[in-house]
Amino acid sequence: MTFNPTELMREDLQDIKPYQPHDYPDTIKLDANENPYPFPQEALEEIKNRLEKVNFPLYPDPMAVELRHSISRYVGVRPEQVIVGNGSDELIFYLAQAFGSGGNLVISSPTFSMYRIHSQIAGAEAVELPREEDFGVNPRVLAKAVQAAKARLLVLCSPNNPTGNATSLEVIEEILASTNAVVVVDQAYLEFGGVDCTPLLDKYPNLVILRTFSKAFGLAGLRVGYMLASEQLINDLLRIKQPYNLNSFSQMAAGVALEYLPTFKEQWQQIIANRDYIIKAISQLPGVEVFPTDANYILFRTDMDAGEVHQKLLGQKILVRNLGSDLAGYLRVNAGTKEESEAFVKALSNAVNEVK
Ligand SMILES: Cc1ncc(COP(=O)(O)O)c(C=O)c1O
Repeated sequence: MTFNPTELMREDLQDIKPYQPHDYPDTIKLDANENPYPFPQEALEEIKNRLEKVNFPLYPDPMAVELRHSISRYVGVRPEQVIVGNGSDELIFYLAQAFGSGGNLVISSPTFSMYRIHSQIAGAEAVELPREEDFGVNPRVLAKAVQAAKARLLVLCSPNNPTGNATSLEVIEEILASTNAVVVVDQAYLEFGGVDCTPLLDKYPNLVILRTFSKAFGLAGLRVGYMLASEQLINDLLRIKQPYNLNSFSQMAAGVALEYLPTFKEQWQQIIANRDYIIKAISQLPGVEVFPTDANYILFRTDMDAGEVHQKLLGQKILVRNLGSDLAGYLRVNAGTKEESEAFVKALSNAVNEVK
């Protein structure tokens, strides 16, 4: 008798492709919307100072009390309205399990691919509703789709990844008012632009906001995300949260990062300036079309095949994201340091001029 674990697996999971890490050594990495600057030295020193107080043999605080208080002060909500996750990815997983499983959920597409993947893992049917031509969203169309699908969850990213544009508070409020489904507004890039939705939390108990330390705070490697919602919704998700989901070191380090907010704000200004430099420079290149952005990355396309542009950039040691089937023909680049951003502009200029 042969043992085949795949056959024993839940049938609808069997054709999921495992996440394939791409390894492009020695490239300037502008493909994952990370913070390009080193983690601030003074914050790093403070983390080192506090390391001795982190009690490695004990399990972490399951409620992350200190970090939730720090986050609550940073975003201006009550600590009871905050839950932390091992990256916002983990919180997306919980949302799909709690509100998607066995039913439909609506995703405003194209967007961050983990929403689709976690829907599939949860056994939820993801109804992907395409954005309008300018990548905006129509609140009435979204509300109708939620109703038609009898969806219990709607996902909207603002600013949206990969398109970069943010949705206005008025549109988000119209969506929230139009449905009794949970509305997830993913604001992973809020520090770079877009409108903060926290003022709507007390008015709309169906609002869930996702935020992260992975982008603006340069802590992608420590996996710290958080969710803001009504106390009741937070308590409901605590039913399924893994007790020790966020390790003690990450809880401490994220708390320290918030103590150095002015230093990070300087980084954000620089990142935004670098982004604006890239936009201005590549808009002037022949055949390059650039889309407006409120985030730390830029969506663009050229009159060449996207795969070819990707390769030509890689040949010059620059790594950007080819969006493939998520948004065929388009590429996404995040703002690097000033030098990295200049290197990207030069490489793209070479790539598009080479074929002329
Ligand atoms: C819109 C959006 N949400 C969430 C995430 C994931 O964030 P985290 O690192 O906190 O899991 C990303 C990462 O690219 C993202 O683009």
